[in-house]
Parts: sequence; C-alpha cells; structure tokens
Amino acid sequence: MIIILLGPPGAGKGTIANEIKKENNIPIISTGDILRNAIKKGTSLGEEAQSYVNSGKLVPDLLIMKIIEERLKENDCKSGFMLDGFPRTIQQAKELDLLMQRLKKIIDQVFYFETSDNIIIERLTDRRVCTKCGAIYNLNYNPPKRDNECDKCGGKLIQRDDDKKETIIKRLEVFKEETLPLVDYYKKEKLLTTIDADKDLKYRLKEVIKRLKDLKLVNN
Ligand code: AP5
Repeated sequence: MIIILLGPPGAGKGTIANEIKKENNIPIISTGDILRNAIKKGTSLGEEAQSYVNSGKLVPDLLIMKIIEERLKENDCKSGFMLDGFPRTIQQAKELDLLMQRLKKIIDQVFYFETSDNIIIERLTDRRVCTKCGAIYNLNYNPPKRDNECDKCGGKLIQRDDDKKETIIKRLEVFKEETLPLVDYYKKEKLLTTIDADKDLKYRLKEVIKRLKDLKLVNN
C-alpha cells in the first residue's frame, strides 16, 4: 500500500499516519521529520535545510528529491509506505511519478485533509512532540498524562521551532501557494479522497480506513 497524506500544516497528517501504522506496519516517510533529525544532528543536509524549515519556507525540490529517492530504496519500503508532507510542489509530484515508474510502483491513494486556518493556528501552538518516539500530543485535545513527558516512552516533550504563530502563518501562505495545486493534480489522476480534518481523530480515521477497505488495500 502506497498512500500520500496531503494537507496544510496542522491538518493532522502525522497523527493519522501514526494511527494507520498501528494496524498496518508500513513506514511513515515524513520529509519534515527527516529534515528536523538532520538539523538536530548537524549534518550537511541539516545545515542546508535549517533556515528554510525554521522560517516556514519550502526546502528546494532538488534536495527533497534526493532524500526521497534514497529513502524509498530502503528495504522497509518494499511492501509499501505512507508519504507525510511529500510531495509539496507540482515539480515534486511530477518527479515522484517518474521515480515510481523507475521503481515499478504505483501510488494507491492520496488523502487530502481539508481544514480551516483558525483551527490550524490553535492546534499548532498547542502541539507537543516526543523527542524520543515522535508521538504527537495537543495540550487541549489529547494532553499527556504528565507534563512534558511522553505517555508511550517517557521521552521529553517539546514544542517545534516552527510552531510559533508568525511561522505558522508563513507556512499556511506557502501551503496555499505551492502545495494546494496538488489537489487538482491528484484529482485529475483520480487518486484523491478529501477528508474533513476539522472533525475529530476518530471520524477522520474511520473515513480513511473505509476508503482503504473499499480499495482493498486493508482487510480490517
Ligand atoms: P512538516 O513536518 O511536514 O510540517 P507540516 O506539513 O507543516 O505539517 P505538520 O507536521 O505541522 O502538521 P500535521 O498535519 O502532521 O499535524 P499533526 O498530526 O502534528 O514540514 C516542516 C517543514 O519542513 C516545512 O515547513 C518545510 O520547510 C520542510 N519540508 C518538509 N517537507 C518538505 C517538502 N516535501 N518540500 C519542501 N520542504 C519540505 O497535528 C497538529 C496538532 O493538532 C497536534 O497537536 C494534534 O494533536 C492536533 N490535532 C490534529 N488533528 C486534530 C483534530 N482533528 N482535532 C483536534 N486536534 C487535532
């Protein structure tokens, strides 16, 4: 199963990907997580990406395609994967199509998580992420049991550097300009399912699983 999770920042792509992974053990490939890890480790990729990520701009397509190509060739991607936050430009989508041809794979479905700007700002300013296992919390909607500590692994919870209000607003602008055209791109390819991401996690997950079952991509 190969699926793409598309949507504005804070639409819940990462949260849904983690839920799908619990039942279907395929890797989540989040370009955002790959870039943040590289920044944390201080690699050359991290150095190159840091100023873009922290200011809410997109990292150049060339760099992103290099990361994706290497990652998709790894062994754990053989029986499928979820792409979270990639592609993000028409150029990336076109290059992904070519890469899939070379790898003899097909994209099964693209889920577009549609939500409103005011909800996004509220969700992202209250988001906390685990530095150890990547679990995602929200101080309002799904708070951790203990302050700043992950329920799952005890890791430290932090606020992402790009979850400041002014950076969130920039990320939203960039999304509308550069990423939103992908909705039409995948509609034309008859791959798009739109999910109302203003609704709660239970509803969204039910809708995604229903579609995956209809497509016979999952059994239960
Ligand atoms: P990335 O890490 O991909 O960030 P993003 O797309 O902005 O998405 P987020 O991770 O912020 O949101 P999400 O939709 O996963 O929401 P989540 O589930 O956490 O990218 C970061 C940066 O890296 C980019 O700005 C760019 O610089 C660079 N980059 C990455 N990929 C790139 C690419 N392909 N090309 C170029 N540059 C790239 O949920 C958010 C919060 O809301 C959580 O607290 C959650 O608990 C809560 N929540 C979610 N849904 C609900 C709900 N329904 N009800 C209540 N609370 C909810």
